[in-house]
Amino acid sequence: MNFYLKRISVLFILSLLFSIGSSAIETNIYTVNGNSLHLKGYTNEIQNPNKPYDDIKTDYFKPITHLNFTDKPVTRYYHLTLKKVQMSPDGFERTVWSVNGQHPGPLIQANKGDRLVINVTNNFDDPASVHWHGMFQHGTNWYDGVPGQTQCPIPNDISLVYNFSTTDQYGTYWYHSHFFAQYVDGLRGGLIVYDQDDPYLKQYDYEYVVVLSDWHHNTTGVLLPLSNVPGYAGFRPIPDSPLISGVGRYNCTAAPPGSKCNSNQPLPVYKVEKNKKYRFRIINSAADGAFVFSIDQHKLKVIELEGIYVKPTIIKKLPINVGQRYSVIVDANQPIGNYFIRGTLDKRCTPNNNATTNFNSAIDWNGLGILRYEGAENTKPNSKEFNDDFKPCRDLNKKHSLPLKPITKYDGHVSDFVNITIAFGRDSNQRLEALVNNVSFVPQMNDATVNKITRDFAPKDLPKEENSVIFNHNGGIAELYVWNNNTADHPFHMHGHSFAIMFVGEKGQLPNESKYDKRNPIVRDTVTIPGNGFLVIRFITDNPGIWAFHCHIEWHVELGMVMQLIELPNILKNETVPDDVISLCLENEFQKRKTLTPRRMFNSIIINEIRSDM
Ligand code: C2O
Ligand code: CU
Repeated sequence: MNFYLKRISVLFILSLLFSIGSSAIETNIYTVNGNSLHLKGYTNEIQNPNKPYDDIKTDYFKPITHLNFTDKPVTRYYHLTLKKVQMSPDGFERTVWSVNGQHPGPLIQANKGDRLVINVTNNFDDPASVHWHGMFQHGTNWYDGVPGQTQCPIPNDISLVYNFSTTDQYGTYWYHSHFFAQYVDGLRGGLIVYDQDDPYLKQYDYEYVVVLSDWHHNTTGVLLPLSNVPGYAGFRPIPDSPLISGVGRYNCTAAPPGSKCNSNQPLPVYKVEKNKKYRFRIINSAADGAFVFSIDQHKLKVIELEGIYVKPTIIKKLPINVGQRYSVIVDANQPIGNYFIRGTLDKRCTPNNNATTNFNSAIDWNGLGILRYEGAENTKPNSKEFNDDFKPCRDLNKKHSLPLKPITKYDGHVSDFVNITIAFGRDSNQRLEALVNNVSFVPQMNDATVNKITRDFAPKDLPKEENSVIFNHNGGIAELYVWNNNTADHPFHMHGHSFAIMFVGEKGQLPNESKYDKRNPIVRDTVTIPGNGFLVIRFITDNPGIWAFHCHIEWHVELGMVMQLIELPNILKNETVPDDVISLCLENEFQKRKTLTPRRMFNSIIINEIRSDM
């Protein structure tokens, strides 16, 4: 570990931490069924026993400022307890898979270079995991939080301490469960890495983190089986409401009789002071829905796109697809008053027909909040919405997404080229499935890919349904050429990397290398592939690990729209997965059931065995 990191020596801070790490301490011991789970501490700092893991809570409707910057990176200890609670995000009461009792989960904050040591205690009564969306996990692939790929799920009543450095990353991220559709039921929250050298730091006074999501009154344990019946002819489940940081509204006359429901949920209020400037960090954490974010009478200055500073440009409305993040600066320079904040689920991007689960949803697609100036009355705004200044169901226009300085490292010889086709099909039971290069992804929950590779399992022998692509050029440029052979748009996300977008094409617009954006590409980690269109991206193969590449529409993930990238397996295989991560695969009845194929968990009977919500 130590040796390897020094050898590649790309990340100064990381190797610094690890070289001191030889005196690393063992922070804790957990006991499972009488066996001990050994927990390694990979940190240079001994945790102060008087200051244990921080059981954080976050009020997303209070303005924040960045953490104090420190001379040297520090380790930040957070404790996330996963537990089911009854909540009424949009007025309708249901069970929510909460983090520290809240939804969205509390904000995780660090400064560039800091180490995050996050103790996740699973009290869900279901297996769980947490993925840190957008974090590269250099040297810590096993903390990427993907059951079947980088770990086995955390059994109920067990804690796993995730321990990774932010290295050179900064910007707006989020975390969420990667175990089935669990994040859709609530396990999601913001993750911010502040940057001392942020060129925009002086341009705003406060910030707000806005976690957008769609919301369903049924749990995913109920919803998933409904679309897994043979011959299902509908689309993805239609939500019941959009939520702005966990708050929405619902017309309860449409709720089933006997449900606890309140139609008069107050709109969430964001207070601003006149003539101050606010950075809004906007995260789309939805299961499915493309959102449009805007604030009446206040234009948005775009400054960050998924950890990349962009050239400042002004927009009225921000289209943001699932998994994506943006920072915008809002100038509170309008007359003192109340203005609508709009987190609108874009109906135009949500296919429906009367075979679709919840097709007749009473949803109001217009998620609303209030931007309230100090000194304004506590009244509802009557402000007017801006007209659209974007192309619906597509990513923000390139002219608003260009890096502050052109990123040129993707312009060079391509050492690995991969052709990918995305399609839908039917299995032998006429159940819908999603196919990436003709394979519907099935993870082996009880034996994660990283475990296999590190015990010298040859990558080429991985099961076909794990849909693996192998990259062996250390420091090379990989190019993925994706053809979306179906009518749906898909927001694709890659773990472990940002990628450069060479080409995005609509139906019939075939990629042509002469049109590739080699010199000044958009760089991000989640991109929308247009229905029947094309995408060409490049990334640098410099991060040994198993990285998921998948559509972020959770319903499509559950149909198998996932690929796994096996990056530099020859380096990865010399790594040692920490014992506590390995132990997750051994200590639990669920994981011992080797005959259980996860795809079949769609079947309601099997879901019923692993989940307690039915
Ligand atoms: Cu946001 Cu595979 O994740
Ligand atoms: Cu998709």
